[in-house]
Amino acid sequence: MKNETTTLFDHTSRQLRALCAEAGFPPNDDTPVDMLSELLDAAGHRRLGDGPAWPSDVADDATPVEFSVALDDTGDRAVRVLGETLAERPGLSSNVEQAQRFLRRMSERFGIPTDRFDAVSDLFLPEQPRGHFAFWYSMIFRPGATPKLKIYFNPAVRGEGRAAELVAEGFRRLGMEDAYAAATEHSVLRGDADRFTFFAVDLDDSPLSRVKLYISHHDATADTVVRASEAVDGLDRDGIREFCGLLGGDTTVFAGRPLVSSYSFVEGDPKRPGNYSIYLPIRDYVSDDARARARVAEFLHRRGIDASGLDRAIRAISDRPLDAGRGLLAHVSLRLGQFGTGTTIYLSSEGYDVLPPRVDAVAGCASVGS
Ligand code: TRP
Repeated sequence: MKNETTTLFDHTSRQLRALCAEAGFPPNDDTPVDMLSELLDAAGHRRLGDGPAWPSDVADDATPVEFSVALDDTGDRAVRVLGETLAERPGLSSNVEQAQRFLRRMSERFGIPTDRFDAVSDLFLPEQPRGHFAFWYSMIFRPGATPKLKIYFNPAVRGEGRAAELVAEGFRRLGMEDAYAAATEHSVLRGDADRFTFFAVDLDDSPLSRVKLYISHHDATADTVVRASEAVDGLDRDGIREFCGLLGGDTTVFAGRPLVSSYSFVEGDPKRPGNYSIYLPIRDYVSDDARARARVAEFLHRRGIDASGLDRAIRAISDRPLDAGRGLLAHVSLRLGQFGTGTTIYLSSEGYDVLPPRVDAVAGCASVGS
């Protein structure tokens, strides 16, 4: 249990250890927690009771990390940590410098190749970044495998008006000039309502190492994302509708936090995305986490996946009553395509705060309570 003197590292490392243990990682593998310690660095020593040092947008309560558990349809599991490095004196520019130090250390330690980062870093990391963030990481852990790193850049880091140009140039520099058109032709159709969210690169040499583009669809319906998914041939469109219907409850227009699409490209086939994913910020469409859990469990059940793994993952993160708050289950995503299908659950650390259950409805939604 945490108290006022618990540090950010104490709190999040306990959660990560428990999450890895329940996912079947070898108990003596300290690598995930070591990497978390490096990621948080000085910020990890700060007491939770002193509040966040920086208003990180990684999570609603400004905790600079968010966990996720990827449940592949093959039965494989991955544990991931989305994180923002914070400088001793946090600021958009100083946090970026800190992130680069972390990358150098991890690259030396695990032989992580940085050529993709090097190819686009001057584009996405200007001296004076704008917006909510400039540089986030995902650390990806699978039992017995070398950890992987993924970097998220902010397309709006030079202003919203230049986002499209940055994304197109980013793909071009990575040898994927056709990717921009392939990704946007079905997904950026509604003016300001469809916005570039992240440009992300996997830092590894494997043939399935991806470059990913994320697009947020404000005030979208299931039709919006089904159409966006049509950039990838042969996907289970009914599965996408079922995902929106079950996890959104009675929601028809997702007027709270947006639905998000992502497209994955690999070097072997840079013209067409191989995978499409949809992310649903379930916390904005439920009254509380008990409801969110029930909907996710039902979705997993329909996909033939045992929901007990979901409950164990939730309990690794928190023992609070699920109906006492909202946002422990932050997002749910569905991955579809030739690089593998599966469901991912994003779990908040709730280091600083728990969002209260909601009693009112989101404007524009038929209901959020069911
Ligand atoms: N907290 C931000 C949001 O909810 C960013 C974010 C964190 C995010 N994890 C995510 C966005 C997963 C999409 C999917 O928008």
